[in-house]
Amino acid sequence: MCGIVGYVGNKEALPILLEGLKRLEYRGYDSAGVAFIPSGGKIGVERAVGKVAELEKKIAGMQDSGFVGIGHTRWATHGIPKEENAHPHRDCKNNIAVVHNGIIENYQELKNALCARGHVFRSETDTEVIAHLLEEESASLPLEDRLARVAPKLIGTYGLAVLDARSPEKIVAMRLGSPLVLGLKDDEYFIASDPAAFISHTRDVLYLDDREIVALTPQGIQIFEGGVQKKKEVQTLEWDVMKIEKQGFPHFMLKEIHEQPKVIEDVLRGRIDSKEGLAHLGGLRDVEKKLREAKRLIIVGCGSAFYAGSIGKYMLEEYAGIAVDCELASEFRYRNPVFNEGTIVLAVSQSGETADTLAAVHEAKHKGILTLGMVNVVGSTIARETDAGIYTHAGPEIGVASTKAFVSQVAAFALLTLFLGRQRNMTSVMGRHIIDELAALPEKIRIILSQQKDIEKIARKYADVKNFLYIGRKYNAPIALEAALKMKEVSYIHAEGYPAGEMKHGPIALLDSSFPVIAFAPQDSVYEKMKSAIAEIKARQAPVLVITTEGNTEFSQGVDDVIFVPKTIEMLEPISNIIPLQLLAYFIAVAKGLDPDQPRNLAKAVTVE
Ligand code: AGP
Ligand code: GLU
Repeated sequence: MCGIVGYVGNKEALPILLEGLKRLEYRGYDSAGVAFIPSGGKIGVERAVGKVAELEKKIAGMQDSGFVGIGHTRWATHGIPKEENAHPHRDCKNNIAVVHNGIIENYQELKNALCARGHVFRSETDTEVIAHLLEEESASLPLEDRLARVAPKLIGTYGLAVLDARSPEKIVAMRLGSPLVLGLKDDEYFIASDPAAFISHTRDVLYLDDREIVALTPQGIQIFEGGVQKKKEVQTLEWDVMKIEKQGFPHFMLKEIHEQPKVIEDVLRGRIDSKEGLAHLGGLRDVEKKLREAKRLIIVGCGSAFYAGSIGKYMLEEYAGIAVDCELASEFRYRNPVFNEGTIVLAVSQSGETADTLAAVHEAKHKGILTLGMVNVVGSTIARETDAGIYTHAGPEIGVASTKAFVSQVAAFALLTLFLGRQRNMTSVMGRHIIDELAALPEKIRIILSQQKDIEKIARKYADVKNFLYIGRKYNAPIALEAALKMKEVSYIHAEGYPAGEMKHGPIALLDSSFPVIAFAPQDSVYEKMKSAIAEIKARQAPVLVITTEGNTEFSQGVDDVIFVPKTIEMLEPISNIIPLQLLAYFIAVAKGLDPDQPRNLAKAVTVE
């Protein structure tokens, strides 16, 4: 999920690699490293935890680093951020160096087999298996042929680049699911995850497609697929660097909203067994027995993480039959919560650094309670201080407002519900049904995202209102609060989220023609109740925007705007229903001339109390 850069040409490689890694810095990462081949010698590797500047200190003033090299900024998925886990990773004899973006799902079985054959591993990462598999291929074969023989053994996603000291002028690379782009300039050649890494050298690029292998040497670029060499068209980029880092999107928030189909795929990758209707969560392996005996789960979090936990509560109660409380971490830590036998605390946090959530974990640990983490940033404090957990694999989220991270948390709760439910009374039939619906989500999200223009039009219509009320029931009650939070955060418009049943107990007094209401009314078990609420709202002349199931014509009149979303099972409605409201908040912010990526007064990780 992070950054690769490679160079082969007639200049010292290291300065070009460092400049490229700095250009990838915006993507967020935890460590970085480079591999290079001083003229004809062994491969040199330098790595550092933290910012690229730390790596730069290590290689400052290095001479004769050679004219070929690869670099990497790591966004850890397997193995905490530390120097030994930073890329590049090498084979036993230090002939081969590999950098990799993505996840090798079957790395554990590959690693076990390689260790049984005598390979010695130096890291906890999934990536390192690639270096040892290449080592087993005959060195008499060209490096690109060796990679072609290794690739079919890898299950998962990868953008990867390889050096071999025995082919000192060559970089070989390949992609499956993670981007790689080539840069061309006279007799210099670049490869990177994102053109931003080399845009200052050339705008002439070639995009690699899945399963294509490329060999870069000072003599040129050769691209192969299935062993056959192929020609590809060179394009000239018009973008400036900032735009490239956002891959053409005007803001990271919009880019991350559009990444959500892939994020769902990444959350599920390697974790669902559609035959048995099971979820395999490696991070819970050590506490599986305690989870089976658990009688109560207390979910703690802040902001969007708390809302994701509130949805998880509904899921786990309905499908896993376990008692669940969901608490604001900032309140939980000051109460004297009752922890009875079989209680487990689950902390939800994108950053893994939120002070209130960490304090809640400490409080539970003081009382001897088993703690779990549901975290996006691998190796973050909450991830390290909880006893076990689930990484949400959303990749780095740059925008302050949580979008893809929130959706990844809800999807992770669906996996946890499967995991705990199948330990209890959930049938394999129900398990398979949930998995089928999860697997269908990415395409349904793409359908919703295709309505962006219509949603942008609706946003312009409401950009000047002073208030919003969001209402929903059951799984959509927390979504009403999350959608209201998005609006508050990025557009600075006052927005209240309320369980629809509460409207009559006070908030309806707010309503008049200047106070629009956004109502979640998909055709589900509480649809009729939502229709009544919408009628009550219209009776007060308040404008109403309804989110409902595609094909439902009941709101073709009598309401002001309708956004349709594809049908899904009720427990997954929060994912489909939040997407249009993320876009609505984003486009209203833009219509108001605000910066949705860095809203005033906010920080991406609230590490203070
Ligand atoms: C969500 O859009 C906000 N940025 C904020 O509420 C956030 O969800 C909250 O601060 C929790 O952050 P965490 O998930 O990193 O713990
Ligand atoms: N899965 C690899 C690791 O954890 C690569 C992660 C990345 O894309 O940076 O090291």
